[in-house]
Amino acid sequence: MHQTTPDNTQTTTALPSAKASGTRPKLGFLGVGWIGRNRMEAIVKNKVADVACIADVVPQNTSEALKSAPAAVAVNSLDAMLERSDLDGVVIATPSAFHAEQSILSLEAGKAVFCQKPLGRNVEETRRVMEAARAGNKLLGVDLSYRHTAAMQQVYQVVQSGELGHVYAVELVFHNAYGPDKAWFYEPKLSGGGCVIDLGVHLVDLALWSLNFPRVKEVQSSLFAKGKPIGMAEGKVEDYATANITLGTGANISLSCSWNLPAGQEAIISATFYGTNGGVAFKNMNGSFYDFVAERYHGTKAERLCSPPDEWSGRAGVVWAERLASGQGFDQQAEEFVKVAEVLDKIYGR
Ligand SMILES: NC(=O)c1ccc[n+]([C@@H]2O[C@H](COP(=O)([O-])OP(=O)(O)OC[C@H]3O[C@@H](n4cnc5c(N)ncnc54)[C@H](O)[C@@H]3O)[C@@H](O)[C@H]2O)c1
Repeated sequence: MHQTTPDNTQTTTALPSAKASGTRPKLGFLGVGWIGRNRMEAIVKNKVADVACIADVVPQNTSEALKSAPAAVAVNSLDAMLERSDLDGVVIATPSAFHAEQSILSLEAGKAVFCQKPLGRNVEETRRVMEAARAGNKLLGVDLSYRHTAAMQQVYQVVQSGELGHVYAVELVFHNAYGPDKAWFYEPKLSGGGCVIDLGVHLVDLALWSLNFPRVKEVQSSLFAKGKPIGMAEGKVEDYATANITLGTGANISLSCSWNLPAGQEAIISATFYGTNGGVAFKNMNGSFYDFVAERYHGTKAERLCSPPDEWSGRAGVVWAERLASGQGFDQQAEEFVKVAEVLDKIYGR
């Protein structure tokens, strides 16, 4: 089986698939707005799967996407997509409120799923999707895209090697000087929350993944909207949040994330791991959303481990499609999506 990233190295269930190993899976793409189209184009470019059909409630988005996948056909709905017996998987990039339901329907119809984050709006939704994948022995992927950057791969390897000694602190930062431009992001029932579920989800995942998903002991958080402290019960989403996550190992994870912060640059994104023998950081360069470096810290000295360019944005979907092509069924690593959702629910006090 072709395994390309460290996150593919854990225990997996590889059972015979309907497809012979090495053939290109046929995929349906549900929701081809900004991210859906970007991820579809990465899969087309890498020739790892065939785009068989596309569905979007906005016909213009479907016809735009068809330009990048001329052999595909437009279908009217997920139901129509799932009726196709030749389809191996569904790639979902609709608004977050639909992710869990559409993923479960697809899995129950016998299709593998690659879904945008967040997989669910809360832990209960997330767990139901994971259990549907387990029950059907289907490969379930989530677009935790930063895991697949070259810089984070370097950081992961340093943390995993043990060379940092005891990792006692992880500092996570994701400030986006802009906010989402779609109304549903600001409606908690549709989004599941604000900047924490939108941006923090990536970083909480990076920290727990790098540390092998240790037990989470305690979570404390403060949420703000337009400069005022809030609770989720108020029907608002947070645009600034801090959280402290205490792990069973004794380590502390601190998280700060925001939308629309006057940060003096477009974005500040970092995950820094401090251990008794030094540190290592994944961080963006010059306020960029796309350029990342990895740095190893020895006291006051910094060593660059990895620099741009790195075309990473569609890589998680490409890796999922490669694994599907190799005949991979349910991967118990999908339980990690539930562990991250548990932490997010605690940050939200629910
Ligand atoms: N992995 C990442 O880093 C990352 C980055 C950005 C966005 N996202 C996630 O991707 C999702 C989509 O975000 P976006 O910015 O691309 O939004 P978008 O509005 O640009 O795209 C959503 C698309 O889904 C379509 N759609 C809506 N309801 C549908 C339905 N029932 N069936 C089929 N199509 C439907 C819309 O018409 C639109 O084309 C969000 O959940 C967001 O959190 C993930």
